[in-house]
Amino acid sequence: MKTQLTHIPGKPRIKAPGAPEVRVKILNAESVAEIQKQMVRFPIRRSAILPAITVANRQLGYLSAEVYEEISEITEIPVSQIAEAASFYTLFPKKPRGKYLIMVCDNISCALCGADAMIKYLEMKLGIKRGETTEDNLFTLGTAECLAGCSAAPMMQVNDRYYENLTPAKVDKLLEELKSKE
Ligand code: FES
Repeated sequence: MKTQLTHIPGKPRIKAPGAPEVRVKILNAESVAEIQKQMVRFPIRRSAILPAITVANRQLGYLSAEVYEEISEITEIPVSQIAEAASFYTLFPKKPRGKYLIMVCDNISCALCGADAMIKYLEMKLGIKRGETTEDNLFTLGTAECLAGCSAAPMMQVNDRYYENLTPAKVDKLLEELKSKE
């Protein structure tokens, strides 16, 4: 069966004459433009959901029902499909979080190599429990399923970067580095 194209590949998707302009309040112009640019790459519209929510998450650091609605407004993909895809990924927080999202892997290899002690250490250093954000909105602490860094367990992801073979000393150094950037 022939796939029906939802836009002309290589050209920006243009709304029908008289159709309302895209109106968003949360996403900025840069994100809207990036999502529209991503739309051009995919012959099937809903294939652009992941790139679109990635753009939104990069700007805001989290996703929400209001953000799904704005993505839907831009992409003309049903909100339910966007929410469904986003709900599958712990990578995309669903509420506001700190500038640095610390996700410690607590799956089997990391657990055997001391992940739990590392989480407790981070809780003590940051003064928060997992799932919480520090008062200065700098750090949010969470856990993740296997992040595919098992050979360097225990490990964690901070925003887009991996930190492996963790020790309390390494955690101390990293937290100091991140704090000193402020
Ligand atoms: S179990 Fe932690 S990275 Fe795989």
